[in-house]
Amino acid sequence: MTRRPLVAGNWKMNGLRAALAEIGAMGASYDAALEARAELVICPPATLLALAAEIAGPASIGLGGQDCHPASRGAHTGDLSAAMLKDAGASYVIVGHSERRVDHGETDALIQTKARAAIQAGLIPIVCVGETRAERDAGRATEIVGAQIMASLPSDAPQSVVLAYEPVWAIGAGLTPTTADIAQMHAFARETVEARLGGGKSAAVRILYGGSVKPGNAAELLGVANVDGALVGGASLRAADFLAIAEAYR
Ligand code: 13P
Repeated sequence: MTRRPLVAGNWKMNGLRAALAEIGAMGASYDAALEARAELVICPPATLLALAAEIAGPASIGLGGQDCHPASRGAHTGDLSAAMLKDAGASYVIVGHSERRVDHGETDALIQTKARAAIQAGLIPIVCVGETRAERDAGRATEIVGAQIMASLPSDAPQSVVLAYEPVWAIGAGLTPTTADIAQMHAFARETVEARLGGGKSAAVRILYGGSVKPGNAAELLGVANVDGALVGGASLRAADFLAIAEAYR
């Protein structure tokens, strides 16, 4: 089973129109040889999605949203449906990022309904899981991540669904787990995805690592068994850094 690596950038609440030039620069350097080895996606703030789609072009950098509402439409002031993101040019959407779990009190159950809504709208959800520092220190990392996977991933999700393991304590911290810890967690995550989806589907599911992925550590982190790509925060804001990470696959 070959899984096409995915390097996805999460811009979080960063980026005005001037930042679209970075997406243009990424597209300009994303040549056929690199495209054959890895898929590149940027998840800008929703305000930039439609503009980014014009710049990125259909055969270049893919685009994603950072969250969606579980409903397809209705009286939900300030929210965006998966269909709206798709209409604006997205093919992916991040759901259940730890910042949304914390800032907006999102539960596994809500995240599962968001992932379902994304799939129904024709988007690929990138479902995020990960333990806190306290949970890891207490020896509960796999227990927490296992429970999040079982409750956040729709049991009937297609194998195109993407899982992102992002230890909360590694995000924006300049810290990463050891490669041995990442290997152990990703192997466990794949077993758990299999327990959830069944039918051998987990062999095709891409499991990304996220948390302080930088040009300097990308080759090491992306070379770990069962790591099928990265979800990159800070280092995805500039084309040079994001491309340097993706170059690990060339
Ligand atoms: P950093 O790469 O900035 O640590 O962020 C990771 C992240 O949260 C991506 O979703």
